[in-house]
Amino acid sequence: MAELDMTRIPNHVAIILDGNGRWAKERNKPRIYGHRHGAFNLRDLARYANSIGIKYLTVYCFSTENWKRPEKEVSFLMNTPSWYIKRFWKSMVENTTIRYKMIGRRDRLPKKLLNAITDIEKETENHTGLTLTFAIDYGSYDEITTAVKKIAADVKDGKLDIEDINEKTIESNLFTKDYPQLDLLIRTSGEYRISNYLLWQMAYSELYFTNTYFPDFTPEKFKEALIDFQSRNRRFGGLK
Ligand code: IPE
Ligand code: IPE
Ligand code: MG
Repeated sequence: MAELDMTRIPNHVAIILDGNGRWAKERNKPRIYGHRHGAFNLRDLARYANSIGIKYLTVYCFSTENWKRPEKEVSFLMNTPSWYIKRFWKSMVENTTIRYKMIGRRDRLPKKLLNAITDIEKETENHTGLTLTFAIDYGSYDEITTAVKKIAADVKDGKLDIEDINEKTIESNLFTKDYPQLDLLIRTSGEYRISNYLLWQMAYSELYFTNTYFPDFTPEKFKEALIDFQSRNRRFGGLK
């Protein structure tokens, strides 16, 4: 197998981390057992991504549609990041260069979760390594709708002329406004769909689907995805 070319590491990778429930089911365990293992695996992936110089890793943790799940599971998922941040606070904040961010709606999150997230965003805002972004209560329909509302308000208030609306106007009203272009989008668990994730951002991303359930998507498997990415010929509509 080809080696990873360290001179061509993508800047921005996103992961739809899927298959935690099925991973647990295979082991006759409750779904939340899979979520816990997924959370630990994410830590390994983030460390690996940081060590090889990926600048942005944006992971889908909870969609705007995931509120439909049973209350017990939703409450576990809402609790996990704050539990996790509390438990690993020291290593997350002090012994690493990782910078943490969240994208998604903040108005429906439990206070405890929101506080844990804003604290870690603040504590790590000057970190210069990987930016690890958790997409929580995130959905592209919501993100784009919110952007449209903001732009419409600017037009209404006379701050913006309709003729001046362009791609940059839209981009600068998305959660990812300061992020580099999305190079690679990975989905685990054998599902071939996007489930309302980064629809605008992925216009020219490379896509990578794997059957591996997220808790088993180790740094070694992540590396395979990156090697595959490096074999692609990105043309952006031109000729190469
Ligand atoms: C991904 O795993 C995590 C979240 C969506 C929160 P799932 O919980 O979707 O696991 P499966 O797809 O049911 O196996
Ligand atoms: C997408 O996974 C959302 C996250 C990974 C957070 P789902 O498991 O919710 O997606 P569907 O329902 O299979 O499309
Ligand atoms: Mg799923």
